[in-house]
Amino acid sequence: MRHVLLAALIAAPALAYANPAEETVEARQGYYKLLGENMGVFAAMAKGERDYDAAAAQTAADNMVLLSNYDVTHLFAPGTSSFDLDKTRALPDIWDDMAGVQSKFADFSKAAAAMKDVAGQGKAEMAGALGPLGGTCKGCHDAYRAD
Ligand code: HEC
Repeated sequence: MRHVLLAALIAAPALAYANPAEETVEARQGYYKLLGENMGVFAAMAKGERDYDAAAAQTAADNMVLLSNYDVTHLFAPGTSSFDLDKTRALPDIWDDMAGVQSKFADFSKAAAAMKDVAGQGKAEMAGALGPLGGTCKGCHDAYRAD
């Protein structure tokens, strides 16, 4: 049973993503979804939609820092912009201005590290780091992501 499931798991993506450029887009969006999921933990706690939980906040912050250390270069392979493919919102400006994108990414990395320092120390501390962190997401989206 386990082998059947494993085989299905391995085979399904191979069939679904026959095109390498589309596969890259799926991976890129998966990367950003992970950022979104972890961001959602802070946001829900800050808004009071869930109780502040120091351990959960710290885990989300640790995940963010891990993701900020991930080398995303391969996720920006040529031929994977919104000009090339329908499924993506990654604007062609990214490929025209990689230095600018890297600078936005560096802003995000710094803000993630700042969040990691305070996420587990209290709701107010976590919420204080959330605005600046969210600002770095928006900073890149406004410049390099289609609406
Ligand atoms: C350096 C630029 C950059 C930074 C920093 C950035 N993003 Fe994005 N984000 C993008 C781009 C480009 C896309 C579009 C990807 C695509 O459609 O191929 C995107 C897409 C997304 C998506 C949609 C993924 C999907 O399902 O298609 C989410 C969610 C997201 N980002 C969350 C975040 C969060 C949260 C942060 C900050 C913690 C963040 N992003 C920081 C550039 C960035």
